[in-house]
Amino acid sequence: MSADALLIVHGVSAFYGSSQALFNLNLSIKAGQVMALIGRNGAGKSTTIRTIMGVLPPAQGSVHLAGRALEGLPPYMIARAGLGYVPEDRQIFPNHTVEENLEIADKPGLRGARDWTIPRVYDLFPILRERRHGPAGRLSGGEQQMLAIARTLMGNPDVLLLDEPSEGLAPIIVNRIAEVLIDFRRAGLTVLLAEQNMHFCLRVATDVTVISKGSVVYEGDIEAFRANDDVKLRYLSA
Ligand SMILES: Nc1ncnc2c1ncn2[C@@H]1O[C@H](COP(=O)(O)OP(=O)(O)OP(=O)(O)O)[C@@H](O)[C@H]1O
Ligand SMILES: [Mg+2]
Repeated sequence: MSADALLIVHGVSAFYGSSQALFNLNLSIKAGQVMALIGRNGAGKSTTIRTIMGVLPPAQGSVHLAGRALEGLPPYMIARAGLGYVPEDRQIFPNHTVEENLEIADKPGLRGARDWTIPRVYDLFPILRERRHGPAGRLSGGEQQMLAIARTLMGNPDVLLLDEPSEGLAPIIVNRIAEVLIDFRRAGLTVLLAEQNMHFCLRVATDVTVISKGSVVYEGDIEAFRANDDVKLRYLSA
């Protein structure tokens, strides 16, 4: 466990009923890292993020953000503490306009930060500006993913947690999302990115944690991971 980490998950176990999904999981993210949480289908990527967010409270272990214990708090308080969560199913309001979805989410960060504004997220995703007066439910899958990310940014989080943002999207849209994550990396945002798509992670991440069957099996920076064919073969190939 690294003392200078911003987000620290320590010894976390989590269950769905009697079925254990996470086993003594450790994860730490420093400010400015884009940490890819990579693993196969059912490895526990979404469960890890849900556990951090308090959607599935951990049965054991702790979650700290900037030294503050979060485990046991309800999800809205964890969000307020500085974690911005973009769930797998995006959860936008389909009957509200694009702009209303952004307005609803407009909140200062924990220390009053107002880094993200509606014009700034429109600059990031110009298609959302074009579609701003239309219902969010009419957006394509890729545009909805962009709106889900933009909406979460409007809460000015300290750490952004993205659950498989590339899933099910056309290659051109995946490419656009990758470019945005590379911008985030350059700007020094702190991101936890759950992904099955290793090539996407190799483009955007600074560091990698590999999860298999609910446990961490590898941690390293992106260059070490890139060079480690054994890990890729053992835990990630089909
Ligand atoms: N709501 C649930 N109820 C019961 N078991 C669940 C539930 N959600 C996930 N699981 C189980 O927990 C384990 C981890 O699932 P999880 O969804 O975290 O994996 P994942 O790495 O996100 O996979 P994917 O790439 O398919 O999104 C799996 O065995 C899965 O079957
Ligand atoms: Mg998942």
